[in-house]
Amino acid sequence: MGTEMKEQDRKMVITLKTFYGLEEILKEELEELGFSDVVLLNRAVQIKGNWNDVYFLNLHCRCAISVLLQLAVFELKSEDDLYTRCAKMNWTSLFDKDKTFAVKGAIFSDLFRHSQYPFLVVKDAIADSFRDKYGERPDVNVKTPQVMIDLYVNNKTATISLNTSGLPLFQRGYRESVGEAPINEVVAAALIRMSGWDRKSTFVDPFCGSGTILIEAALLATGIPSNIERQHYAFKNLLNYDAEVWDEMYEEANKKVRSLPCRIIGSDVSDEMVTKTRRNLRGFSFGRFVETSVCSFDEVKRPEDHGTMITNPPYGERLEVDVEEMYDALGTWMKHEMKGFECWVISSSEEGFKSLGLKPDNKIKLFNGELECSFRKYSIYDGSKKAQAVVE
Ligand SMILES: C[S@@+](CC[C@H](N)C(=O)[O-])C[C@H]1O[C@@H](n2cnc3c(N)ncnc32)[C@H](O)[C@@H]1O
Repeated sequence: MGTEMKEQDRKMVITLKTFYGLEEILKEELEELGFSDVVLLNRAVQIKGNWNDVYFLNLHCRCAISVLLQLAVFELKSEDDLYTRCAKMNWTSLFDKDKTFAVKGAIFSDLFRHSQYPFLVVKDAIADSFRDKYGERPDVNVKTPQVMIDLYVNNKTATISLNTSGLPLFQRGYRESVGEAPINEVVAAALIRMSGWDRKSTFVDPFCGSGTILIEAALLATGIPSNIERQHYAFKNLLNYDAEVWDEMYEEANKKVRSLPCRIIGSDVSDEMVTKTRRNLRGFSFGRFVETSVCSFDEVKRPEDHGTMITNPPYGERLEVDVEEMYDALGTWMKHEMKGFECWVISSSEEGFKSLGLKPDNKIKLFNGELECSFRKYSIYDGSKKAQAVVE
C-alpha cells in the first residue's frame, strides 16, 4: 500500500515509537513497506502519511511500539500556555464523550514544576472542551483508555499527538502463554531483521521458551502481519474510524497467507515451555509446520549445513542458572554442532558472553524491556566445506 499512495496525499506527520537501538531497523522496515523520507529520532522515526497509512502501519509494522499521529506543535512561553493552546484544539471532533481517555508521554523541560503536571493540564483542557459543548465530560481511564493522547515536551516545544495504537503493538494477541522471561515481540522481530536472515533458509532457536522468536520468524517468512491476531486499536474508538477501509485492509492481509518457505526449528529443556510454544503456534496456518521438541540445547543436532540461529538463553537475572557453566557449554556446542550457521545470541550477561569463548563478528546494544542486552553474531566456520571445495 505504501507505494500506491500519491506522495501529495501524505500530509500528516506520523511518528512511530520504538525501543532504544531499534530506530535504524524500523527505518529499514518502513522503507521495505514502501515509505520514503523516514527521519530518525531518538527511540522513534517520523514519516509523512494519511489515515490509510495509520491503519496500515498498525497492522503491518513489526518493529514499532506505537503509531502516533501529530495533532499540534506549539512553542510554550510559560506553564499556562499549555492549557490555553490545548483548550483551543477541537477535541470533540476527535472522539465521543462516552469514550474513556488518558494523556501520556514524556516531558524534557524546565518549564514545569512537577513531571506529572503537564499531563493533568492537557487532560483538563480536553475535559473542559467536552463540558463546554455537552455539559458532560469523558472519563479518564489510565490503564486501558479507549483514546490515548500523547504529549511530548522538549524544552519549550510541545507536541500533541493521537496514539492511534493504544495498547503497545507488542501486545500482538497471539501469545496466550508466556514464560518466566519472555523476549518482547517487537525486540524479537527487530533481532530477526538485524540478523539479515534471508527468510528462506533454516532457522533455529534452541532456547525457545514460549516461542516468540520462532513465531516472529515464521510471520516474517510467510509475510503474515505480526498483528494479524490483534483486535484492539485505539483508532477504532475515534469518530472518523472507517470500518470499511480497515476491514478491507485486514482481509487483504489475511487472505495472502502463504505456506512456510523454510524449516523453523525450536526446542527448550522445559516441557512446560514447549507446550506454551505449541499453544501459541496453534492459531497460525504455519503452526503445525514449525518443528518443536523438548531437549537441552546440547542435544540439538545440526539440521542443515547452513542457516541462522537466533536465541535468548537464560541471563541468570530472571531464571536461576549457572551462567558461566551454561554459556561455556553453549559455546562448545555452537563450535562443534552449528558449523556453517550464523549464530546470534541475545543476553544481558557479559560474564555469559565471555564464557562462550567465541569471538563475535558483530555486537549490537539494545534493551529487552528494562534490561540492557547485547546481541552478538558468531559465524561458525565449516572447515569440511572448504576442504571439500579444494578437493573438488
Ligand atoms: C530467556 S528464556 C527464553 C524466552 C523466549 N525467547 C521467549 O520469548 O519465551 C530461556 C529459556 O531457556 C530454557 N532453558 C534453560 N536451560 C536450557 C537448556 N539447557 N537447554 C535448552 N533450554 C534451556 C528455559 O526453559 C527458558 O525457557
